[in-house]
Amino acid sequence: MLPVLVTTALLAFRLAAAQTPSANFPVVLNSTSTLTLAVEPACGSLDAATFTELNTGINLSNIKTVVTFGDSWTSTGANGTVPLPPILHPPLPSAGARNSENRRATNGFMWSERLAADLNAKLLDYSWGGAVIDNFAYNTTSPRNATGVPRSDFVAQTALFALQGRFLDALVPRQTLYTVAFGINDDGQFKIAGGDMDIAYNTYVSKLGELQASGASNILIHGMYTSHPETDALQSRIFAHLRAAHTTNGTQIAVVDLQRLFGAIAAAPADFGYTGNATCLVSANTIAGGCADPDRSVFYIPGHPSMMTHGLINEYTAAVVNRCIVPT
Ligand SMILES: *[C@@H]1O[C@H](CO)[C@@H](O)[C@H](O)[C@H]1NC(C)=O
Ligand SMILES: *[C@@H]1O[C@H](CO)[C@@H](O)[C@H](O)[C@H]1NC(C)=O
Ligand SMILES: *[C@@H]1O[C@H](CO)[C@@H](O)[C@H](O)[C@H]1NC(C)=O
Ligand SMILES: *[C@@H]1O[C@H](CO)[C@@H](O)[C@H](O)[C@H]1NC(C)=O
Ligand SMILES: *[C@@H]1O[C@H](CO)[C@@H](O)[C@H](O)[C@H]1NC(C)=O
Ligand SMILES: *[C@@H]1O[C@H](CO)[C@@H](O)[C@H](O)[C@H]1NC(C)=O
Ligand SMILES: *[C@@H]1O[C@H](CO)[C@@H](O)[C@H](O)[C@H]1NC(C)=O
Repeated sequence: MLPVLVTTALLAFRLAAAQTPSANFPVVLNSTSTLTLAVEPACGSLDAATFTELNTGINLSNIKTVVTFGDSWTSTGANGTVPLPPILHPPLPSAGARNSENRRATNGFMWSERLAADLNAKLLDYSWGGAVIDNFAYNTTSPRNATGVPRSDFVAQTALFALQGRFLDALVPRQTLYTVAFGINDDGQFKIAGGDMDIAYNTYVSKLGELQASGASNILIHGMYTSHPETDALQSRIFAHLRAAHTTNGTQIAVVDLQRLFGAIAAAPADFGYTGNATCLVSANTIAGGCADPDRSVFYIPGHPSMMTHGLINEYTAAVVNRCIVPT
């Protein structure tokens, strides 16, 4: 069983050195890490033919608002608003609401919450568990397959943002970072019954275009954490498009490849400080039968990072943005 006192520890206030009395947004977060980032980014070039880590010029020092789109690897359960603090309700495994789906698929803060806290920025989170790029792309997802499970997608998330984002924040272009992270569920749905990755690609770039039209000038992409033929190819096509977004629109682009981070963790978990089970919980539905020390597990819920691993994702993301600046 997980110790119940984790709940109160997570709510402890953090007063980091980075925070000043002129804070843009109040931050409540314990950002202590029990792990070590034991891998360097593989910085590449804008000319690369495949999905490659780089930053064309996003300067995190200027960011005051972070807007996120994605799936359960990003979702705080806030659905377009500012997240509430994570609270565990054992035996529910997910930090967040007890009686609704407004939860995180982990035992505490997500990478995006840590990033926003490090930057003293406001977080507007549109991501949602199970999301794909476009529900029309796969044979299994509604509405193309009426019997498929309804899912959130990049289309719905950007639609909600277009509707109400500007009422929640000034969204000053040079001070706003947009992050996009899809792929795991696209791979999952494609594997079940096939689909059309061209639809996913076209939707992805069209939504990036809409974001740029509405003022987005800093866009950060997370590549998925495992390698799969269709999604690897999709990511490389997206990379080529990001290059075009930079050269034609001057949009600043950062590309972070979680395959590198999770490949390094899988190869040498002890180097990062992991000592427990690779995955803490035996199921996504309960903490019963789970490990005693989730902070030392790579994954908490099967297929979903522990809170401490989310801390590493944040550190790795910042490392790429700060160290992989390409000459342009
Ligand atoms: C912050 O988290 C760390 C690691 O889980 C824990 O050891 C520490 O007690 C927490 N700090 C507070 C103030 O709760
Ligand atoms: C980022 O912005 C800060 C503050 O505006 C500035 O001091 C710093 O030099 C910038 N960094 C880069 C790499 O341009
Ligand atoms: C998110 O909020 C929008 C607007 O209120 C709503 O239409 C949508 O169903 C919500 N999504 C989820 C997954 O709750
Ligand atoms: C529709 O979805 C269901 C459930 O995922 C699946 O069993 C069925 O084969 C799908 N039908 C088509 C035509 O893809
Ligand atoms: C799934 O989609 C692909 C591409 O559109 C199609 O070729 C295939 O026949 C579909 N499979 C099913 C089971 O509907
Ligand atoms: C450039 O920005 C426009 C919106 O201003 C957008 O429609 C277009 O897709 C963008 N081009 C690229 C290559 O991203
Ligand atoms: C891994 O988890 C199982 C329960 O699922 C437990 O029996 C075992 O002791 C754990 N191993 C480690 C190294 O934590």
